[in-house]
Amino acid sequence: MYRTHHCGELRLENVGNNITLSGWVQKARDLGGMTFLDLRDRYGITQVVFNMDDNAQLCGEARKLGREFVIQVQGVVRERSSKNANRVTGDIEIEATSLKILNAAKTPPFTIEENTDGGDDLRMKYRYLDLRRPLQQSNIIFRSKLALESRKYLDSQGFIEVETPFLIKSTPEGARDFVVPSRLNPGEFYALPQSPQTFKQILMVSGFDKYFQIVKCFRDEDLRADRQPEFTQIDCEMSFIHIEDILNTFEGLAKHLFKTMIGIELAEFPRMSYDDAMEKYGSDKPDLRFGMEFVEINDLAQGKGFGVFDQAELVVGICAKGIADSYSNKDMKDLTEWLQRPQIGAKGLVYVKYQADGIKSTVGKFYSDEELKSWGERFGVEEGDVLFILSGEKEKTRKQLNELRLELGRKLGLMKTGDFKPLWVVNFPLLEWDEDANRFFAMHHPFTSPKQEDIPRMLSGDHETMKSLRADAYDLVINGSEIGGGSIRIHDRELQSKNFDLLGFTKEEAEDQFGFLLGAFEYGAPPHGGIAFGFDRLCAVLNGQSSIRDFIAFPKNNTGRDMMIDAPSHIHDAQLKELNLDVTYKPEK
Ligand code: AMO
Repeated sequence: MYRTHHCGELRLENVGNNITLSGWVQKARDLGGMTFLDLRDRYGITQVVFNMDDNAQLCGEARKLGREFVIQVQGVVRERSSKNANRVTGDIEIEATSLKILNAAKTPPFTIEENTDGGDDLRMKYRYLDLRRPLQQSNIIFRSKLALESRKYLDSQGFIEVETPFLIKSTPEGARDFVVPSRLNPGEFYALPQSPQTFKQILMVSGFDKYFQIVKCFRDEDLRADRQPEFTQIDCEMSFIHIEDILNTFEGLAKHLFKTMIGIELAEFPRMSYDDAMEKYGSDKPDLRFGMEFVEINDLAQGKGFGVFDQAELVVGICAKGIADSYSNKDMKDLTEWLQRPQIGAKGLVYVKYQADGIKSTVGKFYSDEELKSWGERFGVEEGDVLFILSGEKEKTRKQLNELRLELGRKLGLMKTGDFKPLWVVNFPLLEWDEDANRFFAMHHPFTSPKQEDIPRMLSGDHETMKSLRADAYDLVINGSEIGGGSIRIHDRELQSKNFDLLGFTKEEAEDQFGFLLGAFEYGAPPHGGIAFGFDRLCAVLNGQSSIRDFIAFPKNNTGRDMMIDAPSHIHDAQLKELNLDVTYKPEK
């Protein structure tokens, strides 16, 4: 038997017991007459003591142990003279009577402790060592429990889990596909699914009524802290439902997960239309942990001789409370430069400080104190507040002000961890016009239904009308992170064809790519709709984190590489040939 207990288990009531533990040497301290070991496994750390006077040979062996050796120790549990209150096993220690090395270890390239000294790349290369750290282990265990609780809730609501294929067909919508060559069908390729969207709709046509799947999805897109090329969704679909049924069911799922995973009871989720979110926060995923809503002042600021504002489509600002005295000219300059970086691209930043000794502003020469006071009134300013104002083209300016709002939220400590502000964003536009591509894109995806009342306008309207169509689509946003998204689907062949039409598909292309779905719609498709939660993002948000990497056992780095197995990699010419791929093709490095 390798062990009678694990390393997080023994307590005072075990004193006197003969036990066996197995684990990794976290740390060894040689104090001359005594050698202390911290023995670690998934469950915790237990101190083991070797005493020179009792057994010199054993103590000598213990002194030779290096970090991360795998050992088995037999001994007796005894009460510690100096207890460690920070450890659950801190009241006891093991007086070793025998020691066996199960496997030696090279010195690890970084410390396997709560705060490691290893950089990102090194930790990813030695992911098996990084995953030994208690924090990483607890993240992965958290993930496992989150999947279990999701399944429990969905099972209690009558959902069944169905697996859908990973080798499917490439489609041009959404992100880029990862493709897989087919050996048996020369020159043809599968694609890995960006989501099981069409399959779950087909399952509704087949009458499964309530489907879910905790499923890997693959998207070849640029990576960020909250994006991985392969990630996991809790993917769901329901039949014979309206939007309310979906929002209620999945608000229920989110509440169940917050309660069971972190003991937080969330109140009813507020809802906000897409238009309101853009107008008040310049984002379709506003972080509601803090205010700083946008206030428009075109009517107050224009026509007073300040050309920048006069020519702008929108003059809009936010109010930062109580920072007028602490924010120096240098701070303002830094903030302005930060906004002017190409990633954000603001032309400049106007501010107005409301201080005890008067109003100070970068545009003081264009506006009287009275005028600046009236701006302040609209924002509800108090002494000590600062207005930050941007102007320009509507959409761009709102996006820039969103960045500024978030930056100030971060700087001023307004995004409190442990504070959770969920929000349903609803009434998204159906289509998005892309100036550069000169075509419409589906705002959610091409299977999303327009709102019932917009269907006649969709079937007969002109180009401009199409821009105003609203969809039965919704996102769940928590603390500024898009946790989930979904929609009511089109279940009628004609309407689906019309949508493909608007998205620039020819009849042949639509038939070629989605003929199976259009065909299925002709054999009795029920009204249906669904949603998918980003499972990795949910893990991160529940833990107050913004990066999903630490919640994925084997993530990719930001160039899409798995540093441990060193993938992607070249394959042999023979393999290329077998797959009917061009063996002469050698991309430039
Ligand atoms: P959508 O594309 O909005 O919808 O994806 C659903 C949720 O998945 C998460 N997500 C990601 N997480 C990590 N890395 C990524 N690269 C990534 N991309 C998306 C987000 C997002 O809200 N089939 C539809 C759902 C539906 O309509 O039912 C879909 O995939 O949290």
